[in-house]
Amino acid sequence: MSVDVEAIKQGHRAMWTAGDYPTIAKRIESVAGVLVERVGATGGVDLLDVATGTGNVAMLAAGAGASVTGLDLTPALLEVARRRAAEAGAQIELIEGDAEQLPFPDGSFDRVTSCFGVMFAPRQEVAARELVRVARPGARIAVAAWTPEGFVGRSFRVSAGHLPPPPPELKPPVLWGQEDHVRALFANSGGEVTCERRTVRFEGASIAAWLDEDEKLLGPAVMAKAALEPQGLYEPLREDMVSLYEEVNEADDGGFRTEAEYLLTLVQLPA
Ligand SMILES: C[S@@+](CC[C@H](N)C(=O)[O-])C[C@H]1O[C@@H](n2cnc3c(N)ncnc32)[C@H](O)[C@@H]1O
Repeated sequence: MSVDVEAIKQGHRAMWTAGDYPTIAKRIESVAGVLVERVGATGGVDLLDVATGTGNVAMLAAGAGASVTGLDLTPALLEVARRRAAEAGAQIELIEGDAEQLPFPDGSFDRVTSCFGVMFAPRQEVAARELVRVARPGARIAVAAWTPEGFVGRSFRVSAGHLPPPPPELKPPVLWGQEDHVRALFANSGGEVTCERRTVRFEGASIAAWLDEDEKLLGPAVMAKAALEPQGLYEPLREDMVSLYEEVNEADDGGFRTEAEYLLTLVQLPA
């Protein structure tokens, strides 16, 4: 790839450090529960959670008895994960690293998970190969990714429409939420791939309150506002976001409620 992937990853570190991701991560904690249950994170299994962030999956998997390693690109989030683990008395190995270059020998884990994480690695084929490489024969991989058609996928498109275009070589992260694409990513694994569309509920006091919170706490939204506001270009983005939110809002009491769709992919590797 001709783009500077290291520069992209440096940008991602800054993006996920901006705002207050630990608070945002609570919105998707229930998805971590689904991943842990569906991947089978029971006692006696070695589990790697890739792009663990503040450790939502890692904490639940450790609570279920698995031996857990969490890896992430962003040191500030790993610090929070470390604090959570210490407070809970959970033994979790937390390592700074890159999904595209996992610092583990082949066949190290019985379970490999990623919850809205590996989807952000710039080289999708490389990252998928790494998930498979570090998994043992008979291991299970579980990945959650926003779908392009769902609420979050659509909000990514609204933002992208107001920001400079990314390099054309970069595939949109939401392709990890598209069944044919994710099947192709794992085609060489020899594993049995199953995909399931699911939703997670987002609920807030109002559309304005939800967007205000995003602008302050959600790294990508914080960065978009910082880039556009000085040029007077932020209001049109916010207006387009409000239109999307109004379209998907299921609340009729002034609040905001929607079901955000994601794809849950499970790969069962041959023994
Ligand atoms: C939306 S957050 C999800 C975090 C966590 N899995 C959760 O469920 O809350 C995306 C995460 O991906 C991490 N990330 C992005 N690119 C990465 C890469 N190339 N390698 C490892 N982690 C990466 C970010 O640092 C961030 O923690």
